[in-house]
Amino acid sequence: MAMLAPSVLSANFAHLEQDCRDALAGGAKLLHYDVMDGHFVPNLSFGVPVLKSLHAALPEAFYDVHLMLTDPIDYVKPFAQAGASLINFHVESNSDPVETLAAIRAEGCKTGMTVKPKTPVESVFPYLDQLDLVLIMSVEPGFGGQSFMADMLDKVRTLVKERERRGLNFLIEIDGGINTKTGVQAVEAGVDVLVAGSTAFSVPDVKAACQALSQL
Ligand code: DX5
Ligand code: ZN
Repeated sequence: MAMLAPSVLSANFAHLEQDCRDALAGGAKLLHYDVMDGHFVPNLSFGVPVLKSLHAALPEAFYDVHLMLTDPIDYVKPFAQAGASLINFHVESNSDPVETLAAIRAEGCKTGMTVKPKTPVESVFPYLDQLDLVLIMSVEPGFGGQSFMADMLDKVRTLVKERERRGLNFLIEIDGGINTKTGVQAVEAGVDVLVAGSTAFSVPDVKAACQALSQL
């Protein structure tokens, strides 16, 4: 069984706190927080102040912050201070990976690196021993509600083997197009954390949807 990380991007922002409470009541273990700069990806979402408010309302939640930013290192400290528990940044960004990982750890957060669909998973291999989590994108980042790219599961299988070979224990997370069907495929491939946006929040009953997704 995998841990569920509902993506706040698909929540109703007019009642964000209640949506997140319902997701947590449904068994969500992390809240996935998608930050977009309109440059690294062709969309804007939300930033530091919204995380700060959400963290103040729900201080016990684990905040999995996914930075889709051209220069993520510049935003490590503000997001950490706003309540991030783990900070994910893209291997394709402009920031130096070693320096960015050091900055995340210096703030006391867990570390994550993210790989876009067209990027080989081997690009994060040099950093695996410094990572708490690797995030595999199963859609092009930028928008919720896209279709799952099943061929990304080969990256998951490769990571599982490499983790075993090197005796490491980072988590493997997948993000994009996850529903109860694709979620099962992902878990079978070895995924530990399922991100789900539209199937967790764009539904009439958030708690029930998260209960179903938490059972995969
Ligand atoms: C896309 C984001 C995802 C997105 C997932 O850039 O990283 O987290 O919210 O949404 P769904 O689950 O609807 O594909
Ligand atoms: Zn995401």
